[in-house]
Amino acid sequence: MNTKERKNILVTCGPGLEGYLSAELQGLGFEIVSSHTGGIITRGSLIDCMKLNLHLRTAYNVLYLLKEFRCGSSEALYKQVSNLPWENIIAPQEYLCVLSRVDTFSINNSMYPSLKVKDAIVDRIYKKTGSRPNSGPDRNKVVVNLFWKNDRAWIYLNTSGVKLSDRNYRKMPHKAPLRESLAAGIIMATGYDGSQDIVLPMCGSGTLAIEAALIAMNKPAAGLRSNFGFKHVKVFDEQIWEEIRNDARKAVRKDKPQKRIIATDIDGQAIEAAKQNAKTAGVEHLVEFDVCDFADTYVPQGEGIVLMNPEYGLRLGEIQQLEKEYKRIGDFFKQNCAGYTGYIFTGNRKLSGKVGLRASARMIFFNGKIECRLLKYEMYQGKKA
Ligand SMILES: C[S@@+](CC[C@H](N)C(=O)[O-])C[C@H]1O[C@@H](n2cnc3c(N)ncnc32)[C@H](O)[C@@H]1O
Repeated sequence: MNTKERKNILVTCGPGLEGYLSAELQGLGFEIVSSHTGGIITRGSLIDCMKLNLHLRTAYNVLYLLKEFRCGSSEALYKQVSNLPWENIIAPQEYLCVLSRVDTFSINNSMYPSLKVKDAIVDRIYKKTGSRPNSGPDRNKVVVNLFWKNDRAWIYLNTSGVKLSDRNYRKMPHKAPLRESLAAGIIMATGYDGSQDIVLPMCGSGTLAIEAALIAMNKPAAGLRSNFGFKHVKVFDEQIWEEIRNDARKAVRKDKPQKRIIATDIDGQAIEAAKQNAKTAGVEHLVEFDVCDFADTYVPQGEGIVLMNPEYGLRLGEIQQLEKEYKRIGDFFKQNCAGYTGYIFTGNRKLSGKVGLRASARMIFFNGKIECRLLKYEMYQGKKA
């Protein structure tokens, strides 16, 4: 296996994040081969995969294509997978996890194809080396993904392993936290780049504030992670990885941004968790935390972004009470946020109707299975919104 060989790379993401992921890939100098629901295909080497794992904020997994083939049966699947030189990719003392997504007429569950792929890999390694890797569901060592659709199959090396949305800074999740990759996508959707003030009332465990601070500092998303799938393949080169990390360190902003990141919540425990998480992420000095009702949040004069993720009644809170809160959010935007662009991220369309302001844009995201909207409100200076 050659670390410089260029192949297709499938980068997966949550539905709704494809546009932001495309922009990130292009910003890092990668071409977009094609875009699909939940993933973007680009091209590059295994070394490129390492860079993508370190930098991408909205991605789940970076998958490096090993083989694409016609496949009409599980016997054909076994044979095709056995033909790959796995002994050059996975050491016999490693641990292997196979993940499958199958949509083909002859098979109706993905367990069996996963088993076939796992058998093909470990049998081949056993034949070539005399011992075989252990296997199971844990994603923290070597991970291989199978996609099988109709009569075509793709085998990928999952260079991320555990999803990249696990950044490792959220030691204290508190209530209903957003997934980090979704929070990063929401921040990107507001156009925030560190050159504006951003105010985040109802910040909960601080995910949006931390993702904003990482963007403002140009800190790589996975800078805190020590484990990735690519580290467990035979060709992994520690020195190349150190160089990639060093380049990323050099690109981090050294000065403190002039603009402010203000994050508040009515719940003192949420702010404690947010502070702790920001500390772990290395951005606690950039975020001004406060415990208060959202309507008492300090909003600096001038222009900026105010972004809120209120409860939306599916998991927390009572709808009637929340209707009043959404109305109060509209009042807060009108009365305290002149000159700002306001955003509400919510999974409840009825509640968003209570804000009492006309949204100038609605962007669709998914929080797990819940369809959510990021609603945008322009609060012009000196005029009623
Ligand atoms: C859906 S959670 C936000 C989760 C957050 N985005 C995260 O990733 O952790 C909503 C937050 O709003 C806070 N909250 C509810 N009512 C509030 C109020 N009147 N003023 C300020 N914060 C409030 C709750 O304490 C909770 O932390």
